[in-house]
Parts: sequence; C-alpha cells; structure tokens
Amino acid sequence: MQATLTSVAAQAVTLKVNRTEVVAQAALTDTLLSTLRSDLGLTAAKRGCNQGVCGGCTVMVDGKTARACLTLTQNCGSSEITTLEGLREDPVMNALQHAFAHEGGFQCGFCTPGMLISAYSLLRGTPDPTDQDVRANLSGNLCRCTGYASIISAIRAAAAALKSAGGSQ
Ligand code: FES
Ligand code: FES
Repeated sequence: MQATLTSVAAQAVTLKVNRTEVVAQAALTDTLLSTLRSDLGLTAAKRGCNQGVCGGCTVMVDGKTARACLTLTQNCGSSEITTLEGLREDPVMNALQHAFAHEGGFQCGFCTPGMLISAYSLLRGTPDPTDQDVRANLSGNLCRCTGYASIISAIRAAAAALKSAGGSQ
C-alpha cells in the first residue's frame, strides 16, 4: 500500500510556460491540462472531453499544437509551453481575436481558446491559408454553437488583415 502511495506522489518538475520557468508538483499521471489549470492558474485551456477529442485543451508545446489533456506534465520538463495567456501581446493572436469578435466566431466561447491556438499555429506556418487549409486545421477542434462558418471567416479575415499589415511576423 505504501509503495502505491509513493508511486503516485507528486514530484517537482520545472516547466517553461509562456517564457517563464515555474516549478510545479505533478504525479506521474498528472496531465499538463490539470497542471496549467489547477496548479498554475492558467485557465484558458479548457477541459471538455478530457480524452483528446474536442480540442478545447489545445496549447503549444515546442511550437506545435498539443492536447494538454493527453500530455503528461512530467514529460514536459524540457519543453516550451505556450498557452493563450502567453500570447496577449502577439500580433497574430491579436488579429485572430479581433477577427473572431468581428465575424462572430464564438457564441458560448468554450471552444474558442483551443480554436484560437489552432488558428494561431496555422497562420504562423501558412500565412495565406485557403478555406481547405482552415477546415483541415480545425478538424480537431469541436464547436457545438457556431456551425464553423463564422470561425473559418474569422481566420481568413485575420490572415487578410495580417497580410495587408505587412505579414504575420
Ligand atoms: S479536453 Fe483535451 S481534447 Fe477535449
Ligand atoms: S462557441 Fe460554443 S462550443 Fe464553440
């Protein structure tokens, strides 16, 4: 019994989250989503399905989108983690947020942080995406409210705004 308790006990892990080093306590089975939300107070990533399906928990790990609910905190010790909170000053994210608001790209807003991170990843790599690019990129992000058309319009509008402003930087 004691061995079991010891094996799930939290251990310190140093994470780099939004360009800042933080020390979190995490058991081997703790997910990055629970660490971000419960331990670090970063609640933009949402717990929807908690099994890798809905995309509500999407964050960036080493520059790529990742499901925080499927990522173990103890495996992130050497990774750069970026959440929506870390992109407040980012011009690409700002353009996306403005376009989502302008185009009605959200209703309840639960899926929006994950959508924004996925869209951000798309525009960083593909500054001038086609409709098909946008649809493919959002295939792992579920929205129960909008029907997706306004989200796709918002991402295309953000891309156009960034292009006319001189690129996605
Ligand atoms: S909460 Fe992670 S994919 Fe749904
Ligand atoms: S805006 Fe409600 S789930 Fe997408």
